[in-house]
Amino acid sequence: MKDLLTIDQLGADGIGEIMIAADSFAEVCQRPVPKVPALRGKTIASMFFEDSTRTRNSFDTAAKRLSADTMNFSASSSSVSKGESLRDTVETIEAMGVDAIIVRHKSSGAPQQIARWAQASVINAGDGWHAHPTQALLDVYTVRQEGRSFEGMKVAIVGDISHSRVARSNIEAFRTLGADVTLVAPPTLLPPFAESLGATVSHDLDSVLGDTDVLYLLRMQSERMNQALVPSLGEYHRTFGLTRDRARQLPANSLIMHPGPMNRGIEISPEVVDDPRVRVLNQVTNGVVVRMAVLYLVLSSAAAERSGE
Ligand code: CP
Repeated sequence: MKDLLTIDQLGADGIGEIMIAADSFAEVCQRPVPKVPALRGKTIASMFFEDSTRTRNSFDTAAKRLSADTMNFSASSSSVSKGESLRDTVETIEAMGVDAIIVRHKSSGAPQQIARWAQASVINAGDGWHAHPTQALLDVYTVRQEGRSFEGMKVAIVGDISHSRVARSNIEAFRTLGADVTLVAPPTLLPPFAESLGATVSHDLDSVLGDTDVLYLLRMQSERMNQALVPSLGEYHRTFGLTRDRARQLPANSLIMHPGPMNRGIEISPEVVDDPRVRVLNQVTNGVVVRMAVLYLVLSSAAAERSGE
């Protein structure tokens, strides 16, 4: 595996390998000095053409805990603003000697294109509406941490599915592991091919809650919309938001997850954020160890491929 671009390239075995490596890095992160020399001598460049708090900082922390050198590129403060093309930008960064490039881009397919140009490994940190594989990996890691079986697990993904790369990668990851996925949204926020993703579709959150093991909430991704797709955010909250009353309908041992950033008062009521079933900060913590695992496995496998092993 030279690159990590989507979940479907992994299969259940590939996801399992990342989970096991993440377990060992979770142990490293508990040590007084949470650092190992696994990637000493490697240079990892982060190329973010779109904003990020969680993904960017957890990849940076993960790389440093593996003793790699890091290079941080931000499109807004780069020569992209002077008209430099994506290809020239990537080739310029790669010419400085990097082993891996972590890419976030607003265009679906940009990391795949960069992987064709670059000798370095490419890791997709979110491309347009398409994929966010490391988010899905940290999400399944967070559920796995609860010691539950994925086989037959009921996962409900609620909200703006149409514009969500997180939804697409999570549908692939949870279904690959044997879970049943239901997409809950108004028709305007579901892609026309929703059922072809292998998920069930519902427009009625209240009818789904009682039989849900994992409730996965999504943000309204207004930055990717060119028209109003719900009558108002207040009405969306009343119909599809996780209110205190709806949280009461969820099983006591269910999990409430969200990739962040959360919009309190829209997809989740502020008072529900403190519910003991909420795992949002566990997801963030697990992002570091899962990204350590991804960086380690991708770079080890690229090195093995280069040496013909
Ligand atoms: N979940 C996620 O991708 O968050 P950021 O946009 O902050 O990286």
